[in-house]
Amino acid sequence: MSRNHFRIAVLPGDGIGPEVVREALRVLAALSEETGLSLDIREGFVGGAAYDRFGEPLPEASLSLAMESDAVLLGAVGGPKWESLDYALRPERALLGLRERLGLFANLRPVHVFDDLLDASPLKRSVVEGTDILIVRELTGDLYFGKPRGVRVEGGQRIGVNTLVYTEGEIRRIARTGFEAARARRKQLLSVDKANVLESTQLWRDVVTEVGRDYPDVALGHMYVDNCAMQLVRNPRQFDVIVTTNMFGDILSDEAAMITGSIGMLPSASLGDGRGMYEPIHGSAPDIAGTDSANPLGTILSVAMMLRHSFSLDTEARRIEDAVRAVLRDGLRTRDIAGDGTGLTPVGTVAMGDAVVRKIRDGA
Ligand code: IPM
Ligand code: MG
Repeated sequence: MSRNHFRIAVLPGDGIGPEVVREALRVLAALSEETGLSLDIREGFVGGAAYDRFGEPLPEASLSLAMESDAVLLGAVGGPKWESLDYALRPERALLGLRERLGLFANLRPVHVFDDLLDASPLKRSVVEGTDILIVRELTGDLYFGKPRGVRVEGGQRIGVNTLVYTEGEIRRIARTGFEAARARRKQLLSVDKANVLESTQLWRDVVTEVGRDYPDVALGHMYVDNCAMQLVRNPRQFDVIVTTNMFGDILSDEAAMITGSIGMLPSASLGDGRGMYEPIHGSAPDIAGTDSANPLGTILSVAMMLRHSFSLDTEARRIEDAVRAVLRDGLRTRDIAGDGTGLTPVGTVAMGDAVVRKIRDGA
């Protein structure tokens, strides 16, 4: 019998983070009532919210909460209020600290186009139709963590330095994640690098190719990142699984999100050897915080990923995804996915959450 009791650490963060997390938790609560799932949910502070209260973006208490849980649900961090702080105190540090301390080296970002949102994308329907990509982004290396880093003064001028570094071991483990994911899908893995200019990513290409020998059933391809950025808007259907570096994955996943209509639609899972962390890929959107207009679907779909990847509850995960598909079918749209000329009146964050909860209860 599979386990049905889980501990979830919830870190809502800043801006629209708490608003979208609230809706995702309501969906989880409805699902647990329907299925007898028992969830122990504890909240903590991260990001600017934690800085304001405790003077640091990732307090020890929040880190322990995450470490003692089976999975972490995170909203978003950051905002103009904290932009002038020292790097070590910035809200983003909380996210990076969690990724590092929890050993979350693999970030899965599925780019799935819902049929009812084909006209919500700024790209033509004929381009986006049928897109189904999984971006596997390396999450604990690259320019994000490489040393040396910082700004120093030399010869009377300031010099800014960040270091792109990858060890063979780091490349090998993310490559495996990519190959395993491709094996479970359409068996095509595309590794994205800039091997024509950067030695570190020539190593990336070499190691991914070596790992590929263990996966003869997966077709491996390589592409430079600039070409990939272009191909994503030219013909996104050509991609199955993309495996790439931390920095390139950050950029390409924002670009790919627009294929689905809105960055508000994209969930993510950050995985390592232990517990996973789940969050929408969007940021804290301070400009719309508190206006009940954020799209909670990326966070709701992140919870589905949690059920699937951390709890092995595939049926329950699918139930949430089906509920999301059903509310979109009913014509519900938050402002970001309302599109032009669809004639649909946008609903708020809470109303969208309500609609998903109703579908869960109706057994949609
Ligand atoms: C993301 C975000 C983060 C990143 C920021 C907020 C640190 O853009 O998760 O994609 O750059 O990884
Ligand atoms: Mg990003």
